Amino acid sequence: MSKESALGQFWTPENIASEMVQRLVQLLPKDARVLDPASGPGTFQKQFRRRKSKILELNCFDVDYEQVKLTRKVLNEFDIQGKTTHGSFIFQSPTANYDGVIMNPPYIRHEWVSKDHKERAHSEIEKNFSTRISRRANMSNLFILHSIPFLREGGILCAIVYDVMDATEYGKQTRKILDTSGEFLWSEKKKVPFKGVLVNAEVFLWKKGAPRKPKKSSSVSYSNGTFVALEKLLEIKRGSGLPKRAIYVSDDSKDKRLTSPFLTKQPPYEGLLARPNTRAFLKRTSKDVNFKILETLTERVRRETVLVEVQLVSAKKAPILFNYFIRLEPRHLWNEARVPASDNFYCVTPLEEDYHAAYWLTLNSDQFNSELFRNARDQGSGLHKLQVSDYKKVQMPNLMNLKATQRRRIEKIALKLIDEGAEKEKVREVSSQLVKEYFDAD
Ligand SMILES: C[S@@+](CC[C@H](N)C(=O)[O-])C[C@H]1O[C@@H](n2cnc3c(N)ncnc32)[C@H](O)[C@@H]1O
Repeated sequence: MSKESALGQFWTPENIASEMVQRLVQLLPKDARVLDPASGPGTFQKQFRRRKSKILELNCFDVDYEQVKLTRKVLNEFDIQGKTTHGSFIFQSPTANYDGVIMNPPYIRHEWVSKDHKERAHSEIEKNFSTRISRRANMSNLFILHSIPFLREGGILCAIVYDVMDATEYGKQTRKILDTSGEFLWSEKKKVPFKGVLVNAEVFLWKKGAPRKPKKSSSVSYSNGTFVALEKLLEIKRGSGLPKRAIYVSDDSKDKRLTSPFLTKQPPYEGLLARPNTRAFLKRTSKDVNFKILETLTERVRRETVLVEVQLVSAKKAPILFNYFIRLEPRHLWNEARVPASDNFYCVTPLEEDYHAAYWLTLNSDQFNSELFRNARDQGSGLHKLQVSDYKKVQMPNLMNLKATQRRRIEKIALKLIDEGAEKEKVREVSSQLVKEYFDAD
């Protein structure tokens, strides 16, 4: 892939850049501070310079050093305060002191946005707007939302964006966030403005509003039996607690006969299908094997000189696993092979036997995840925890309320997603759409 595509380098035509700068400056106070988070070759900077615009400070960013040098060159010839920083804007922490932001954000498809950029951008969005947008959102959307906290109340954003805000679900989510945190002052469609790319664009001016108090209750309604507490639909058990992990876990091939695959953690990038990450000594059905397990454990305790009362630990198996320590986002894992899990997980079995996958899918919807998050306790440094008593009370879409044909349809869709590898974003998107369709919950 070319550098231009990888970094979304499509320059704003001069006439549009000129119009944007003019419109923005008209709305700014004297001595304004302005930010351009993706400055490129200094397209907007040239227009500020040309008009000798009365702004106090112009700070810029670009990840491409070539572009940084070009922007600096333009600004050096324009006697104005400000800094052009070489680095990713997504990793900048906001200080809400800008009067204006002007941007042509990089258009980079979500598949090409790096994992750390995605994680950072989405966690900032969640923190700043108490909501989430689809993980399929492209870089333009992430840039727009990332820039808002940099504006003071009443500050103005002037942006040119590809047709991103109407054509896609995540674009609509971005627009909704902008609608609720400020107001659009003006916008205009531009037909195929960029050289070499056949897309239409929109230029808009938006003004940041006063911060709103986060809504106390979620959008989910509890009154009509459409949503019920998890414990009414699922059996929930904590996973197996090992008296001492170092003694009970062994990846040694000589122990293989006595150990079983075991799940103690699922790394974030592993998606939604449970994968054992180690092996553990767990109780078996054969008395002989259990005897050997006890012998081996006793030997290991002796060798390690630790104080542990050796006992057989039963395997806890369930089709769905939930790690109740949440770092980034809640995930319910499909556990096809019923791999036993450690007590970092709740082992979840839907009471309705025929629809296990449908429950798994529903538990991964954005609507349910927001409910989970609302009930989680903040442990500090980005970690949240769901106590089992809180977890059992979280409200979920009541699948039992649906007709059998509808449940069968969800089950079929879920099994197909599992078959295809259950890519996290895809699962969430499909699931959220189904919950919206059947339960009228956004
Ligand atoms: C669409 S161009 C716009 C450039 C210029 N402002 C214009 O309108 O012509 C987007 C710019 O963003 C830069 N860019 C891409 N990813 C970035 C990131 N994470 N942080 C800062 N700049 C980035 C690219 O190198 C590119 O110069």
